[in-house]
Amino acid sequence: MTYLEELGKRLFFENISEPKRQSCSSCHYPPAGGTNQHSGVNLKQVAVTGADPNGDNNDTPPGVKNAGGLKPPTNKYVQHMDENGDVVGLKNFQINGCNSVLNTPRGPITLFFTCGGAFWNGRASGHEIEDSKANAFSFSENAKVSEFKRMYEKYLGPVADQAFASPFINHVEQGIGEGKPETRLEDIKLVCEQVAKSAWGNELYEYAWDEPLDCSDKNKLDTVFARFAIALSAWQLSSENNPYDSKRDKALLATESRTFPLNGLTELENEGHELFYGKAGCAAICHRSNQDVDTDGTLLHQRYTDDAFHNIGVPRNYELPGSPEPDEGLYGVTEDERDIGLHKTPTLRNVDLRPGNGFTKAYTHNGWFKNLETLVHFYNSADVNGATAKGFGITRCPEGVQTQAEALANNCWPASEFPDTSVIGVAIGNLGLTSDEEAAIVAYLKTLSDTSIVQSPKPYKSAPYDESRMEH
Ligand code: HEC
Repeated sequence: MTYLEELGKRLFFENISEPKRQSCSSCHYPPAGGTNQHSGVNLKQVAVTGADPNGDNNDTPPGVKNAGGLKPPTNKYVQHMDENGDVVGLKNFQINGCNSVLNTPRGPITLFFTCGGAFWNGRASGHEIEDSKANAFSFSENAKVSEFKRMYEKYLGPVADQAFASPFINHVEQGIGEGKPETRLEDIKLVCEQVAKSAWGNELYEYAWDEPLDCSDKNKLDTVFARFAIALSAWQLSSENNPYDSKRDKALLATESRTFPLNGLTELENEGHELFYGKAGCAAICHRSNQDVDTDGTLLHQRYTDDAFHNIGVPRNYELPGSPEPDEGLYGVTEDERDIGLHKTPTLRNVDLRPGNGFTKAYTHNGWFKNLETLVHFYNSADVNGATAKGFGITRCPEGVQTQAEALANNCWPASEFPDTSVIGVAIGNLGLTSDEEAAIVAYLKTLSDTSIVQSPKPYKSAPYDESRMEH
């Protein structure tokens, strides 16, 4: 690992919070595929309570503990470095920046979608650090400016912007400082001091950035914070965080033709793949990166997301803390009414990965879904006027039926959070799959779990500087 990556990894795993009990890895827990570590939270409130549940936060109603209103998406397979050292994956936020060619009975049509940017609504646009006053590459010698830019500039982008935003100083997350725009510098100083007090902070920062970590220089705090964000990006983009070693990946590499059906998959899993790319249309638009080159899912580095924003018609989750109004998604960034309730397509890598069999994961931005079987059944039948739903005897839920468990017990689907922009009935909701076919798709999704799981770092041991651990 380079010094920059190790700095990022330790920033990710250390409890840098107030009080000191939460880290990035609390909400992006590797054994849960980079999502929340608590099964009970996923089952009920979904949104994770901040490090200081009762701290003063103007955004949460009185009596409600500090917590956001969204499920933590995975931080894995957002972007990664390819063999040539290029960053691939999520691009900068761009209105109508992505297109998909959809084959229809009347011929192919091209659809344009807003895409890119980190967070469910894309607001970590990819140029937030550069647009801010923080100059990560502020050195007194010009030669150093160009050297560090050459090495590290590639890590700027949505993933670095997300960390710059930042969970460390957000009251519904790690909660250091006051968490107000006007106190940002003082808050950053407190983060800096926690890092400086760790066993690794001073040494790794100095090795990675060739400058001592100085939390006392007010003019440099923004720079320090941008450098932390770049380090977090570097580690999150590393092959350790994105190993591409799932059962599907291994089977693909082991099959000489590199086409499905794959030798290493069961009949059911191979059938699930066929349906995913065929009848069920999962990859027609949404769960497909590399739109142009990978039409049949045979690309090793397939990320299973178009990084674009869509409204699949998820029911409202009343169990979120304080039962807030549904998150408006992309509309929060564009203020275009057609974007109300659109959220970024998540990757499907590690969608089933969990620390143990009894562990519940929550799905979609608001976590209403608690298992993959129900989610696939929803895609298949949520258009309650369609033939599939009628075949299964499904109706629209009466008022008061709110949770997944209640909906299943009543064999009904609640209305969408934002019906006006939902694609139910247009693209999904009536797929015509049998129960066995739904099961095959679930089986395929389960082949997308990493087989190697990131371990938290060992206690730090100071060591002399080693030039080979610098980026080249
Ligand atoms: C309290 C839980 C919590 C903590 C702690 C936390 N996150 Fe997150 N993370 C979330 C939630 C919730 C979202 C989605 C928020 C949104 O979209 O508005 C998110 C989004 C992200 C994303 C965007 C993924 C994507 O596909 O858009 C990344 C990357 C990420 N977090 C990394 C981090 C890092 C790095 C840290 C530590 C500095 C961290 N998170 C700390 C809950 C958390």
